[in-house]
Amino acid sequence: MNKTLLTNTYDTIPEKPLYDPRIKTSYDPLILVNRSHALKNAFKTPGGLMDVSDFMPVMAGEKVLLLPEAWTALKALLKDIAAGTEITAVSGWRSFNEQVQIYRSSLEENGEDFTRKYVAWPGCSEHETGLAIDLGQTMDEMDFIRPAFPYDGICGRFRALAPDYGFILRYPKEKEAITGISEEPWHFRYVGVPHARRIANEGLCLEEYVEVLKKYQ
Ligand code: DAL
Ligand code: ZN
Repeated sequence: MNKTLLTNTYDTIPEKPLYDPRIKTSYDPLILVNRSHALKNAFKTPGGLMDVSDFMPVMAGEKVLLLPEAWTALKALLKDIAAGTEITAVSGWRSFNEQVQIYRSSLEENGEDFTRKYVAWPGCSEHETGLAIDLGQTMDEMDFIRPAFPYDGICGRFRALAPDYGFILRYPKEKEAITGISEEPWHFRYVGVPHARRIANEGLCLEEYVEVLKKYQ
């Protein structure tokens, strides 16, 4: 993957998405969203978003929604590892406007360097698809942007089984130069079962995997 692909789509924080909001929203689980692949219909709320509070704790003050296929897979995975209330949903689907607010408030609180590392550019966050979720180990104080999600214990068991339920760790440390985002141990992305297993087994990130798939098209 060519690093030069990760160029800015915008020069300043956008006030509105690049594309016509009348375009119908539907997201393929394999959709690639990053700074050089902005969502084409970022002002549309995806259809059928479902609330994960039906089966897991949610960070105070948040409403965490996912597309139905991701919601169903997450529910089954948490049941499989008997997570109980040990894993908390921190952030799921975000509207374009929410992503703008998160980006702006992080700029104020954490500065530009941190924000570029950990918050996707508005219109370029896969949270805007409803296919991504940030998870944290349940505790009294949880960080919204960087929740703790350790590699051992219940979170480790979640990680081990995630690909079998269609989830990948989207931003691994060794892929930072490709994804353009710093390591995020808490951010999981639903891509579907056969794809997640292959991505995990072959040690790829989604940018690399979509290039592999192009060879079969
Ligand atoms: N934290 C991820 C990169 C996002 O804001 O979408
Ligand atoms: Zn995230």
